[in-house]
Formats: sequence, C-alpha cells, structure tokens
Amino acid sequence: LSSIFVDVSGVEVGTQLTVKYLGKPVFIRRRTAAEIEAARAVPLDQLMDRDARNPNLGAGTPATDENRALVPPEAEGDAAEEWLVMSGVCTHLGCVPIGDGAGDFGGWFCPCHGSHYDTAGRIRRGPAPENLHIPVAAFTDASTIKLG
Ligand code: FES
Repeated sequence: LSSIFVDVSGVEVGTQLTVKYLGKPVFIRRRTAAEIEAARAVPLDQLMDRDARNPNLGAGTPATDENRALVPPEAEGDAAEEWLVMSGVCTHLGCVPIGDGAGDFGGWFCPCHGSHYDTAGRIRRGPAPENLHIPVAAFTDASTIKLG
C-alpha cells in the first residue's frame, strides 16, 4: 500500500483537517483539553464498542482514550492525547460524519441514520456498530503524520 505524509503544523488546538487517503476521508483532529478530559472520563463499560479499532496497537486493545490517540514524539500529558486520526467513514453504512463537536457527545455525528460519536470517535448512540476506525498511522516528526 502507498503511504502519504501529512503536514499538521498548521492545525490549531480545537480544529481538524480532512485528507483523502486511498479514496476515503481521514479526519485528523487536534483536540482540546476539554475534549480529551470528556473522553477519558467515560468508563469502558459504557461504550457500545470496547475495541480501540486501532491497528497500530493491535486487535482487541481496549477503547480507552489513550489507546485511540496518536502520540507525537516526546509528547507527554495532554499533549500525548491531543491527536486523533480516524477514518472519516461511518461504521454503519459508510456516510461521512460531521465533526467539530457535532452530535450529543461533542465529537462527530452521522446524519444519514443518526450515529453519535464521542470526542475519541467512539460510537455512543445510533445504529453504527463500531468506533470510527483508526488507520495505520505514525508521526515521523513533531508535525508530520504518515498514513499507511
Ligand atoms: Fe452513518 Fe448510517 S451511515 S448512521
């Protein structure tokens, strides 16, 4: 598979970028401390899908906020959980969810059939069966993300 490199140096806290990768949207969000805190506060047993859906950590990894975030080199504390990189494809029937705090859980909302995702992109209400999937990704330096 081909890889792409995304410059995220211009992405401010509280904003997101959508890029195309393999013909599908990928959301890259730099989350606020409040978004991270909200996601951390959710007990795992309240999640509809408890799998992090993160191939970078392996199948069956619990869907904690920490396990959903993509960590930049040498980042610590909140900075280690700021970045969320996810496939922008609803796990129900594949529509593109709306972001920037949409939906009842402050994350993403899929208008096609009403799926609400939280600030870690985890499905919280609606027909979607799984959390928004995380692609194979890694930081190659403090401001570059490699997809694939
Ligand atoms: Fe997203 Fe159905 S495709 S809720």
